[in-house]
Amino acid sequence: MEQELRQLQAEAETKLATLDNPKDLEEIRVRYLGRKGLFTTLLRQLGQVSAEDRPRLGKLANEIKEALEQKFNARKAELAASVAGADRQRDDLSLPGRLVPFGRLHPVTQIMDEVCSIFVDLGFAVAEGPDVELDYYNFEALNIPQHHPARDMHDTFYINDSILLRTHTSPMQIRAMEIEKPPLRIIAPGKVYRCDSDITHTPMFHQVEGFLVDRKVSFADLKGVLTVFCQKMFDQEDIRLRFRPSFFPFTEPSAEVDIGCVICRGEGCRVCKQTGWLEILGAGMIDPEVFKMVDYDPEEFSGFAFGLGMERIAMLKYGIDDIRLFYENDLRFLKQF
Ligand code: FA5
Repeated sequence: MEQELRQLQAEAETKLATLDNPKDLEEIRVRYLGRKGLFTTLLRQLGQVSAEDRPRLGKLANEIKEALEQKFNARKAELAASVAGADRQRDDLSLPGRLVPFGRLHPVTQIMDEVCSIFVDLGFAVAEGPDVELDYYNFEALNIPQHHPARDMHDTFYINDSILLRTHTSPMQIRAMEIEKPPLRIIAPGKVYRCDSDITHTPMFHQVEGFLVDRKVSFADLKGVLTVFCQKMFDQEDIRLRFRPSFFPFTEPSAEVDIGCVICRGEGCRVCKQTGWLEILGAGMIDPEVFKMVDYDPEEFSGFAFGLGMERIAMLKYGIDDIRLFYENDLRFLKQF
């Protein structure tokens, strides 16, 4: 019996040393140590050995069984570790990681930030107002009464008779002047809405309003500020600017300011409608009627105001020939900026 026990032990140990996977290990454990395994079967025969040898053999059998169980457990841990090691080897750590796609700011937002930072450097403060605006601020207080023909060019979406989506950022002139006393230098960026759609017009677009009120402000100050702005924005000392006489009910005199078309370099193309110029803003000296609406004395104070179209500036800066591209959400287009 002792010999058979030792033989089973030797056999089991050899198999343990040569197997190389957890499945074989389990099979061998069941074969030797399981309830119906070889060891158990042999131990059942203990009853047949002489009473004299039984205690010694019983003790030996238990020792061998315990030793084998320990070896099985050790081998099990070893195999588990090597499987994990093999998995690790399969991961090629030199491969580049998976990139999380980064978002970016919309080109118009980038331009708007750039425009604002130029004016902030010139000493302007930033103020923001509501997109859903009162008729009073959008029209009335800007000297555009009901039935004034200037309203025709600012057709918009009405919430009711007195509330609408603002058609320009000029209402911020009134809102700011109602709160503050001169001198003031403010820019007001934001979205505006109009019933408009073609290659240079969209129904929603962005403007930055700028206005400065103080004593003895003149049209020369307006030209100076806008020229410096365009030089910085387009990074061009000799930038071409054209002030065309125009009309806005809230400025007098008024001008529309054009910049030399950068798409065709002034030769004429479909974007500049063959003129060589592209209009980027409206401007003028703030009308005394507007000052009266906010209780400023027009004899004491004067000021200028301008409203810049952000999409137009982005088109000029990046050489884009259709404004609608900004709002088609085509990532191939948007990722270029
Ligand atoms: C105005 O909106 C005046 N509030 C500007 C102003 C402010 C004048 C202060 C005087 C003093 P206008 O309608 O011209 O003006 O628009 C200003 C600029 O917005 C235009 O020069 C153009 O660049 C841009 N713009 C106008 N309509 C659209 C549109 N539908 N889509 C994209 N850009 C537009």
